[in-house]
Formats: sequence, C-alpha cells, structure tokens
Amino acid sequence: MCGIVGFIGNQQAYPILIKGLKRLEYRGYDSSGVSMIENQEFNQYKCKGKVADLEALVSGKDISGTIGIGHTRWATHGVPNDVNAHPHLSGDGNLSLIHNGIIENYATLKEALMEQGHVFKSDTDTEVLVHFIEDIMSKTGSDLFEAVRVALCEVVGAYAIVVMDRRHPNRLVCAKKSSPLVIGIGAEGDYFIASDATPFIEYTKNVVYLEDEEVALIDRQSGLKIVTIQNQQKDPYIHELELKLEAIEKGGYDSFMLKEIHEQPRSIHDSIRGRLNLNHGMLKMSGIDRHEEIWMNANRIIIVACGTSWHAGLVAEYLFEEFARIPTEVEYASEFRYRDPIIQQGDIVIAISQSGETADTLAAIELAKEKGAFIFGVCNVVGSTISRATHSGAYTHAGPEIGVASTKAFTAQVAVLYLIALSVADKRGTLSKERLHRLMAELSTIPDKVEEVLKTNDLVESIAAIYKDHRNALYLGRGYSFPVALEGALKLKEISYIHAEGYPAAEMKHGPIALIDEEMPVFVIATQGHSYEKVVSNIQEVKARKGKIIAIVTAGDKTVSELADHSIEIPKTDDSLVPIVSVIPLQLLSYHVAVMRGCNVDQPRNLAKSVTVE
Ligand code: M6R
Repeated sequence: MCGIVGFIGNQQAYPILIKGLKRLEYRGYDSSGVSMIENQEFNQYKCKGKVADLEALVSGKDISGTIGIGHTRWATHGVPNDVNAHPHLSGDGNLSLIHNGIIENYATLKEALMEQGHVFKSDTDTEVLVHFIEDIMSKTGSDLFEAVRVALCEVVGAYAIVVMDRRHPNRLVCAKKSSPLVIGIGAEGDYFIASDATPFIEYTKNVVYLEDEEVALIDRQSGLKIVTIQNQQKDPYIHELELKLEAIEKGGYDSFMLKEIHEQPRSIHDSIRGRLNLNHGMLKMSGIDRHEEIWMNANRIIIVACGTSWHAGLVAEYLFEEFARIPTEVEYASEFRYRDPIIQQGDIVIAISQSGETADTLAAIELAKEKGAFIFGVCNVVGSTISRATHSGAYTHAGPEIGVASTKAFTAQVAVLYLIALSVADKRGTLSKERLHRLMAELSTIPDKVEEVLKTNDLVESIAAIYKDHRNALYLGRGYSFPVALEGALKLKEISYIHAEGYPAAEMKHGPIALIDEEMPVFVIATQGHSYEKVVSNIQEVKARKGKIIAIVTAGDKTVSELADHSIEIPKTDDSLVPIVSVIPLQLLSYHVAVMRGCNVDQPRNLAKSVTVE
C-alpha cells in the first residue's frame, strides 16, 4: 500500500526520494508526490498516476533541498487525483506531511477543526491530521516533535507518517502505529526514512525499526531521538540488514514475477538449508526447539493469514493433522479478528505472512495474544512487524518478493511449514522414524523437481495462448491439491483479471458443474496418489459436459493425459509435497496469460503488495 520515503542529510533529497519511490512502486499505488525544503520554502509536487508522471511534472522545476519527503498513495479516503495525493500541507502552509494508514476518527477531528475555521482542500484523513498538528502547535506553542506526539495521543487508527516544518529545515519527524516505518542511518549525518529498507539499501545497512506509538525526531545537529507517544524516552536499537541490492532488481527478466517464479529452486533450497540434516536424520527448527514443551502439549493449532499465505496455511492444515496429529483450523485473519474466537489452554496460533505487515493478520495476532495464545510467525521479511509481534517463529528465506502476485513466497511458506510439521511430529513421536526420514529426503529433492517443472514453460505458454481470451476458469484439486486449486485461481484472477474459481474437485457436482460447457477451461491437479481415481472421475464429469481439461499430471501418466485436452507433467513426489511442485505451472500460466492480455503483471490494478489497512 502507500509507500513512504524521507531524507535529511548532506545530499540533494529529490534524487534519493524519486529512486526510493520507484523501489516502492511494487507496494501498489495510484498517485505520488514529493516535497523538499529550500530556503525555508517547500518545493512540493504531486499528481495522480505513476512516479514517471511525477517526474514529468517536476521537469524544469525547482527540486532543490537537502531535506524532503516522498509518497506513493493507494487511495482509501477520496478518489485518486492530484489534490488527494500526498504530501498534504497544513492550513498555514508551514507543515508538509505524508501518511500510510487510516485515521479512523478523522471525521470527528475534521468537524472540530472546521468549527475552528480550518478549511480542507482534499477528501483525505491525512490532511485532517496535518491540520490537527498545526492546531496543537499554534495553541500550545509546542514544536513539531511535541505537537506530533500530542496529536497522536488523540488519533485512533493506523499510521506511518513523516512530517516537516518549512521554518525548521533541520528537522524531520516521523511516527508509526500498525504501519511499517524504518529509519536508515547513513554516513556523515544522512538519515533515510521509508516503509521498508529497499529505497536506501545502497546507502546504509544500519536501520532502526520504529515500534508502534513511537515518534522519532531526526535533527541535523543532535541526530536521532525517539519517544513514545506517552513521552517515554527510547534508546534506538540499530539492526544490521542483510538485504542486497541485486535482490531487489529484475536481473535481466522482463518482470519481477517471472524472475521470482524462476528463483524458486533457490528460494526453496534456502528455506530448508541448515534446517534439514539428512546425514544425521535430524531437523533443526530453533523456533520450535526453544518452545518444545508448548508444541508437545499442543491441543490445537489455529492458522491465521490472508490471500496466498492463507492457501499455504490450508496446505499446513493437512500437514499438521497428518504428521503431528494436532487438530488444525485455518482462518482468514480478517474473520478471526472480528468475532470472539475461543482460545483455550494448549492452543497455538500460527500467523503466516510474506510481508509481515498485513494489517488483518497483525490484528488477529494481537487478539490471540490478548486471549493468552502462544503465537508462532512464519514471515519472509526479516524484522517485519509480525515477526516482532510473535512469541517465536521461523523465517522463510525467499528473499524480497517484489511482484504483487505471490509466487516464491508461497512455495517457501509451504516448505517451512512442512519442516515445522515434521519437526513437531518428530518430537511428539507421531511419525515413524522411517517415514520421517523418507519425507525429509523427499523434501530435499524438491528444489531440483521445481527446476524440472520450470522446463515446461514453453508448453505452458502455448496453452496460455489458447485460453487467454476466455472469461472464466475453474481450478479443481483434492486433498493437498485443493489449496493449489485455490492458489491457481487467485493467481489468474489477480494478474489477468479473468474470473477464476478454485474448488475441491468433488464439490463441483454440488454447484459449479452448472457452469461447464465448451467455453469453460478447467484446470485440474490430477497427480497420482491418494485420490487419483476420484479425480479421474471428476475429469470424466467435466468431459461429459464438453469442458476443456488442462491437467497437471505425474510424469508418465497415461490415463489422465488421454482424457485431457492438455496435460503438463510434473515429477513424481509424495502427495504431501505435490503443492510445491504443482503450483509452478499454474504460476507460469497466469503470468503468460496476463502478459498476452497486456496486463502489468508486477503491479496489477487495484492491488497492493502489503495490505497495511484493514
Ligand atoms: O504479506 P502477506 O503474505 O501477509 O499478504 C497476504 C496477501 O495480501 C497476499 O498473499 C495476496 O493475496 C497476494 N497478492 C497474492 O498473490
């Protein structure tokens, strides 16, 4: 969602801000803006559209200043247009502010401010906040740092903000609650602020993650000072980042999505490396080992997540129940948080999130924590809010995922959840040693099997060409392949805008079968294994109604291949590992269809990479 960049230091701010905004484009946005201070005046520009439109707008204009802020806006309050774009100015024109999040009580604040004569130009909650800060400054005589702190005590909602005062170009103030904000400490008095570290990775690896309800002052003379909104002084804790610049570049691919699909052999390998010791038949999951007692006594697992991460959670449900024999439920985080869920002794809540910033997942964690649950996180972004909010966890090592459509994060999540399930099963003695070692050995072959599947790219592209103009698609799977059907459908709809539905194959006859005719492509995960014969029957049912079958089959399969209109072979593996391998052709298919339809695969319309609002 909205992207934030700020800079104060000894260089010109604009080039840093604009490059930073480009790096944050992946988050999803519809307008952008920058503001720099020079000679105690703002050089401020903003417009609807892409960062490239902003660059065109500022061309030939004064962009000087060694302090500045930049923003990409994903519209919440008010349509995407030039006026609603950030930064927003205070009524007196002295303050300029950017914001990510939603101020829930903005209407009440706005009404009170209007009664006092404030006039608003935009429809945004953000403009209300900057007027509110101005109001506090003028009434109390406090400086910007103090006024922001006081204002935020009154604010209900989520925010990451950066604000500056044109009369004091030596200071930048930022704060956050439930939306991410990271401060980079560069050389020789340069400071960077951003929604994540990607905008300033080439300048510094030293970062401070701001915590919820903390306000930071960055002063050219005195450096960084942090207080809570309750005015308690905090010592900044400096983390060292491992992120490399290459990881956030396209590396010769046409899109991040394609690059990330192809990175999967490596990202799965990185996610299991060091955790799987085949020579000694041992699993090392330190987040599990440290809390062995809790896992040994677990009565129930509740998985909370959204989107693709929720699909990974569905795979994990099967894994935990089959291997560790722990009853498992998978919940949409957004639903879990808005009822009164029953948490009992022995419940473990697993939160899965690529970004580690998803607002609904974070809120579900907070709720489960309040109710006394032990929370285990599976996140990809090191140091992210969710990874810090959980009691323990395991990182996926997929590397930065920039494409909005999640690909390598999904397979890494399933791989890590697989290790967790095996490790817990090992501790609880619910799997025989022989089966455990067989599954461990099979898991270690998965990166190579994924590499093998990537070779189907040309075949998948030719199938994409046949179905690219269809308006609907069905995805079917059973058992471990049901979540893959959901994931395949999500991939197609989110980047190609074709309506697609995923179903458990057996459910088809309870409704969706009415949709089947010669115009309906049906993608079926029909690998040999537990419910193979049943899936074959489901395929027959589709064929009898003239539906088109595109089947993902086990290498060498004859039965399905003869029935299907097209079949894509994947190497044989255990049922429980099929999701990691079978999802690959579905990712490739969505990619090719979207490209052929002229869609922007990395930044699909209306979508954001990290959904930091509820
Ligand atoms: O960062 P998270 O894993 O918490 O994100 C959850 C969803 O927003 C995300 O998986 C979304 O569904 C993807 N765009 C799917 O490709």
